[in-house]
Amino acid sequence: MKHLLLFYFTICFAASQDLNIKLPSQMKLLQKLRENRRDRNLEDIKTSWEPIRIHFEYVETPPADYIQQTETVLEIIKTFFGRHLLVKRQTGSLEWKSTYETDWGLIIVPASLQKSYDSDLVFFVAQETDADAEYVARAGPVIFDEKTGRPIFGLMILNNHYMLEFQGTNAKFEAAVQVVLHETIHGLGFTNNLYDNYINSTSGQKYDFTVYQRVNQQIDLPTPRLTQLARKHFGCCDLFGGTMEDQNGRGTAGSHFERSIFHNDLMTGSMISGNTLFTDFTFAILEDTGFYRVTKHASDVQLWGLDKGCDFYQQQCYSDSTYEEFCENPYDPSDEKDNVANHLSCSYAQTGIGFCVNDGLVECPYYYIIEDLDCRDADNYDAKVFQGTNFHFGYDSMCIRGGLPKKGDYLYIGFSCFQYSCDEDHQLSIIVDGTTYDCSDGGSIPSFDDNKYLYGFMCPDNPEDICQSKNECPNQCNKKGYCLGGVCTCIPGYAGRACEKACTTYRDGIECVQTCPANTFANDLTMYCIGCPANCATCSALDVCTLCEDTHELVAGFCELRVYSLMLVTSFIALFLAL
Ligand SMILES: *[C@@H]1O[C@H](CO)[C@@H](O)[C@H](O)[C@H]1NC(C)=O
Repeated sequence: MKHLLLFYFTICFAASQDLNIKLPSQMKLLQKLRENRRDRNLEDIKTSWEPIRIHFEYVETPPADYIQQTETVLEIIKTFFGRHLLVKRQTGSLEWKSTYETDWGLIIVPASLQKSYDSDLVFFVAQETDADAEYVARAGPVIFDEKTGRPIFGLMILNNHYMLEFQGTNAKFEAAVQVVLHETIHGLGFTNNLYDNYINSTSGQKYDFTVYQRVNQQIDLPTPRLTQLARKHFGCCDLFGGTMEDQNGRGTAGSHFERSIFHNDLMTGSMISGNTLFTDFTFAILEDTGFYRVTKHASDVQLWGLDKGCDFYQQQCYSDSTYEEFCENPYDPSDEKDNVANHLSCSYAQTGIGFCVNDGLVECPYYYIIEDLDCRDADNYDAKVFQGTNFHFGYDSMCIRGGLPKKGDYLYIGFSCFQYSCDEDHQLSIIVDGTTYDCSDGGSIPSFDDNKYLYGFMCPDNPEDICQSKNECPNQCNKKGYCLGGVCTCIPGYAGRACEKACTTYRDGIECVQTCPANTFANDLTMYCIGCPANCATCSALDVCTLCEDTHELVAGFCELRVYSLMLVTSFIALFLAL
């Protein structure tokens, strides 16, 4: 097998602090926003929430052999956010004003692009090919609406030295989409120099919070929805806020979720091979900006840290308890006698075979998926290496302890990538060499034909959790869309579970439909039937929920997570009073 080097890309450098230094006009604008908060009037902003129109404008065209992929990726991003995010549009078009700074150091906005745009957020996209840079892409907002503080123009730079590597399989293409998604989210306002400008979109008021600084430089961002959701997910009622990355300095620290806590979330600070998740944490912070609301959807489900409590959230691997999220015996690259092979295991979410290591973004080592052993990437099947092993690679493959190689001298490393399937009741089956093995019983060891195979394998401990959190779409949406919570958001013209069907009309979820069904609203920009607001059961408009799902309560036409802890406390007090 080829030598596998550990490396990571800083996906971005939210460009924020950097841009701040270079961009006096932005600083001034931010300052003005802070000072004039009370004078804000929202006259030029429509009162209704509508699907966001993001526009990408090339400052330089991508390399000829990569332009097609870049175009499709950008089309997917536009459709994805148009389908999931609502914004209060300005009346009229966006106008590049002559007073705006044009020289942003990294990009100069050419005169030809200083015009009006019929959209809600415009990114100027530049290209570079820099083998020495650590980042794949970078982006940040540069011009903000003076009334609301919402970003209206942003810059994005794609480093094609790395972007070009994301070609070939569906899994690689998906990684390219993830990079641009991640950067777009920074451009939408997830950067640390904007936290002070976030507003409650209902009241129009700035939140009353201070960012909490932990002793170890990590910060906890206490915006309301992010904090609520973190409390619920981790099962820790008194956490202060969403913890941000403290590693890697300018560009990474502060503007990303902490890797040890949020692990493979899309908005952590570096790419991680294996399965990257777009979770509700990201939607929560986007809503917390006050600039956006979210439409009905299912997000990717995160198992990392789920219900592990305050101790996990605060201590991670420094706790006296051990958490299976982390591993204890990391590979030491500086020790010549050490061998990666002695540190292997399945990754936490079982999507690949990893080795125990500290990836540079965490102090806590975990099983980092070796790129060539990422079970989800079909490209990883090398007939010579995996001959006789019964390994299977693709979106429907997972890491399993043990193996079932044919009898003979074939590769065996103690872990395998095997095909799996989940039925409607979340019962897991493992499929090897055409035979289906029942794995609904966690930790069981299925019997096998020992005339044909060696070793044997063990079912994962938590088969039902794995099935419930299955975030995969067939063939990663076939380079025509992005998979969220097991559903592809396809570019216009396609529909189906894997964007595999042609569709010239609207799409309702995975279906191709002539007219949109009840509780959804036709949107001609994305060609999607967009549902009620997120977590809403019935609504009268895209931005008017009339009844929320049980877990949520209605606040100003949208659904907010119920505050469980507070409810408990209040009912206790009520009980005392009654007594
Ligand atoms: C925003 O303000 C409204 C009205 O004052 C209030 O009811 C709501 O709880 C606030 N929302 C958040 C998330 O702080």
